[in-house]
Amino acid sequence: MRWFHVSVCNVVVVVAMLILGALPFSSHAQLDPSFYKNTCANVHSIVRGVVRNVSKSDPRMLGSLMRLHFHDCFVQGCDGSILLNSTSSIVSEQGAAPNNNSIRGLDVVNQIKTAVENACPGVVSCADILALAAEISSVLAGGPNWKVPLGRRDSLTANLTLANQKLPAPTFNLTQLISTFANQTLNITDLVALSGAHTIGRAQCRFFSSRLYNFSSSGNPDPSLNTTYLQTLRSICPNGGPGNTLTNLDLTTPDTFDNKYFSNLQSLNGLLQSDQELFSTSGASTVSIVNSFSSNQTLFFEAFKASMIKMGNIGVLTGSQGEIRTQCNFVNGNSSGLATFATRVEGEEGVTITSV
Ligand code: HEM
Ligand SMILES: *[C@@H]1O[C@H](CO)[C@@H](O)[C@H](O)[C@H]1NC(C)=O
Ligand SMILES: *[C@@H]1O[C@H](CO)[C@@H](O)[C@H](O)[C@H]1NC(C)=O
Ligand SMILES: *[C@@H]1O[C@H](CO)[C@@H](O)[C@H](O)[C@H]1NC(C)=O
Ligand SMILES: *[C@@H]1O[C@H](CO)[C@@H](O)[C@H](O)[C@H]1NC(C)=O
Ligand SMILES: *[C@@H]1O[C@H](CO)[C@@H](O)[C@H](O)[C@H]1NC(C)=O
Ligand SMILES: *[C@@H]1O[C@H](CO)[C@@H](O)[C@H](O)[C@H]1NC(C)=O
Ligand SMILES: *[C@@H]1O[C@H](CO)[C@@H](O)[C@H](O)[C@H]1NC(C)=O
Ligand SMILES: *[C@@H]1O[C@H](CO)[C@@H](O)[C@H](O)[C@H]1NC(C)=O
Ligand SMILES: *[C@@H]1O[C@H](CO)[C@@H](O)[C@H](O)[C@H]1NC(C)=O
Ligand SMILES: *[C@@H]1O[C@H](CO)[C@@H](O)[C@H](O)[C@H]1NC(C)=O
Ligand SMILES: *[C@@H]1O[C@H](CO)[C@@H](O)[C@H](O)[C@H]1NC(C)=O
Repeated sequence: MRWFHVSVCNVVVVVAMLILGALPFSSHAQLDPSFYKNTCANVHSIVRGVVRNVSKSDPRMLGSLMRLHFHDCFVQGCDGSILLNSTSSIVSEQGAAPNNNSIRGLDVVNQIKTAVENACPGVVSCADILALAAEISSVLAGGPNWKVPLGRRDSLTANLTLANQKLPAPTFNLTQLISTFANQTLNITDLVALSGAHTIGRAQCRFFSSRLYNFSSSGNPDPSLNTTYLQTLRSICPNGGPGNTLTNLDLTTPDTFDNKYFSNLQSLNGLLQSDQELFSTSGASTVSIVNSFSSNQTLFFEAFKASMIKMGNIGVLTGSQGEIRTQCNFVNGNSSGLATFATRVEGEEGVTITSV
């Protein structure tokens, strides 16, 4: 047992390493569900209060918030970059093709941030708020809960080019979907599980209408679309009609987070091409995963939790990287940004907090 024979000098080095490793500013810090235990113990219930309140009058918001976390994580990592508005130094990701006139919930995130700042000023990142809101939305829609790893910090930059490059399009085939996810360290199980988020929420006609009338320039509808559903969708989305008409992503249980998304795919009732590809691509490795999630909701929920945690770890800023934004739409120290947001907010104990 030679390695037991350590010198005092080695012990000092080891102790120093342990202390350094435990410091919050270590550059390889991991996320931790209890990150705010001593600084904002109630953060989860504060976020939940706002999301629950908003979702009573707008059930779709649960899906919108979940999607916001996804669109954050795939672009520069889960760093709140999607929340940054355009300024003279920032080109907002909100204008990227997958986001423009499509993402929702930015105002709700600001409401959450205000509530969280009232309780714990300057502590909780906007990126963590997105991750918490995604988990809370799952639970409020009837889906699984999980302990959300926390400690992300907010970016100082956004990247519209990257948002256009990295977010998958609804017209992607399976090969393109797999490689888009692989580039984010997500495998085919993650792709299928995370696509299951389309068990809630809505989509606009413009994202799938080519399937109904002229699929892949064939002059015909997508052959992998259920012909009954095709007729329904054609009446909702007339050829050349308004592109922003909404329909449910899950025709069976539109606002409930369950595994019906997968049985829909088995009946050729997936709304987006990217949905149906998972089941209708012959010989694909995703088919058996769809079948297993369709036959066992517990299996889907377990996979969804694991994949959401995996997605939530992509490219995170920790320790002293980035910052904790005061206002989610602007980086700190930006008088031009903060000028529109120097609002006074009454805290629960009557404490007045300003964002300047
Ligand atoms: C697999 C590739 C994916 C593609 C191509 C895709 C594409 C889309 C599109 C086109 C919409 C409709 C947006 C609109 O009409 O404005 C949508 C909605 C949605 N997506 Fe995805 N998505 C994908 C994966 C995901 C993932 C990984 C999540 C979350 C984990 C997610 C969550 C949602 C939700 C909840 C909605 C409904 C949003 C709402 O109603 O506001 N999607 N998606
Ligand atoms: C809930 O929403 C109502 C209005 O819709 C608002 O007046 C109230 O302050 C909200 N409560 C919380 C906890 O967000
Ligand atoms: C940020 O931009 C969005 C549109 O993308 C807008 O609705 C919102 O009001 C802006 N926020 C601020 C604080 O200016
Ligand atoms: C803040 O915004 C102004 C004007 O939009 C810009 O010139 C400046 O570089 C920004 N500051 C930071 C720290 O991003
Ligand atoms: C977003 O859509 C609006 C139309 O609603 C358009 O005017 C604007 O140019 C688009 N933004 C970008 C960055 O393409
Ligand atoms: C955005 O990302 C692209 C692709 O990685 C990179 O070439 C570009 O420099 C980035 N732009 C900004 C503004 O960071
Ligand atoms: C998927 O799309 C890409 C890009 O359009 C194309 O090169 C590829 O052949 C397609 N794959 C299949 C299996 O259709
Ligand atoms: C994702 O793609 C970029 C180039 O677009 C590459 O630099 C990066 O290493 C890829 N990441 C992974 C995990 O494959
Ligand atoms: C995907 O990754 C998870 C772990 O992140 C692993 O458990 C699973 O087996 C992987 N699936 C495939 C098909 O490689
Ligand atoms: C389908 O799209 C292709 C390419 O855009 C076009 O040439 C063709 O005329 C369209 N067919 C029909 C029936 O609209
Ligand atoms: C089409 O969908 C209906 C339910 O909406 C289902 O009963 C039928 O079996 C589906 N057709 C095919 C070919 O899967
Ligand atoms: C469903 O999946 C869960 C989780 O993996 C597993 O424990 C359970 O045995 C499965 N149920 C059936 C009926 O296969």
